[in-house]
Amino acid sequence: MDSKIKSLFQKAKEASYLAYSPYSNFKVGAAILTKNERVITGCNVENASYGATICAERVAICKALSEGEIDFIALTVFVQSETVFPPCGICRQFMAEFSDDMIVVYGNDDIIHETNIKSLLPETFRL
Ligand code: THU
Repeated sequence: MDSKIKSLFQKAKEASYLAYSPYSNFKVGAAILTKNERVITGCNVENASYGATICAERVAICKALSEGEIDFIALTVFVQSETVFPPCGICRQFMAEFSDDMIVVYGNDDIIHETNIKSLLPETFRL
């Protein structure tokens, strides 16, 4: 794996320690590398209503947009769990809004999967 992507994955791990997840106990961190070479992180933020929970990926994307960053090269996701999961459907749609080819990496300390948004969400819904 490219060294830039590896260090981006490490940033996602660091962000996972900031997760607010008292309901699921899943600590998830995300880190985005932008075309301006900035790294923007996010963590999952849960809510007592459950439905208002925001995934780490979308927190990172919203932070990026709100800081003027819209062109993404890669997004990495780290989960503090033995079980690794790929980004949820809402996050895939959210990523696809801003890129049709960004690299997506997800995993934990033992397992790392590298893919891209095209593979994760073929036949994307667009207006
Ligand atoms: N979660 C993420 O942060 N990213 C995903 O792609 C899937 C799920 C979070 C949301 C919630 O806080 C917890 O993991 C369990 O669903």
